[in-house]
Amino acid sequence: MKKITKCVIPAAGMGTRFLPATKALPKEMFPIVDKPVMQYLVEEAIAAGCEDIIIVTGRSKRAIEDHFDSNPELEQRLDDSGKFDYLRKVKNLNEMANIVYVRQPYPKGDGDAILRTKNLIGDEPFLVLFWDDIIDNDVTAAEQLIRKHEETGSSVIATVWVEESEVSSYGMLEWELDGDTTRVTKFLEKPQAHETDSRTAVIGKYVLTPNIFGYLENAKSSCGDGEIRLADAFIDMQKDTDIYGLEVQWVRYDTGSKTGYLKASIAYALKHDDLRDEILDYFKSIM
Ligand code: G1P
Repeated sequence: MKKITKCVIPAAGMGTRFLPATKALPKEMFPIVDKPVMQYLVEEAIAAGCEDIIIVTGRSKRAIEDHFDSNPELEQRLDDSGKFDYLRKVKNLNEMANIVYVRQPYPKGDGDAILRTKNLIGDEPFLVLFWDDIIDNDVTAAEQLIRKHEETGSSVIATVWVEESEVSSYGMLEWELDGDTTRVTKFLEKPQAHETDSRTAVIGKYVLTPNIFGYLENAKSSCGDGEIRLADAFIDMQKDTDIYGLEVQWVRYDTGSKTGYLKASIAYALKHDDLRDEILDYFKSIM
């Protein structure tokens, strides 16, 4: 079985939910405390064994490339002023992985974004991480997915359990048990709650086998808006081949929503020894 060494991070979406903040600033560059969400994703991919990170960007996303580039003036200034801790953090960014960028010229959906990486991925399974989800666990979600892929040899979709009221916001998986693994029997993209008994929702982390590209090439836009979604490919792929769902452990933050983003910011701030007490005091004072 081929080892997973490549990760695709789709980052061309406009971030409409966070306007006007996303007018000039890519949503992937929003900080959680002092690191942009994109850096959390790149670190997650590296910790899971990836060596090549392919970021699919679009117009007005230059800040992502600048973040992982060098900044000689800044580095010199930090060096001159003896701020070596910051210097190390800044310099590490352009050494952490081999990062390449692919542009998606038109907003044609997350499936189209992934299809644009086909020639770079070749005939290998690969990891996909979307910016919307951060899983807080020592064993990252990427590692959990890759382990399951190594067991099954199939594509694996990260899932979480959701309330009935949230069903229509997610891709939903119906599944059966195969040993201790959940094999997908049906993929439904944002169904109404009465259309499925499942509460197993798809989140933005996957291991995909390379046959996904054929399904993406042939996928028809299910929403009739011309966009090709990864979900469209899954619906067809599931009919021909095994796909597994994996309920990722543990805490999940939906950074694609305002409340999820704020919760992640607070939770990660509380992990910083120099911030924790002041934040807790502040909450006590306003409760
Ligand atoms: C996309 C997918 C959906 C998935 C969701 C997770 O929807 O199409 O299947 O459940 O991401 O965040 P979006 O949130 O982009 O509308």
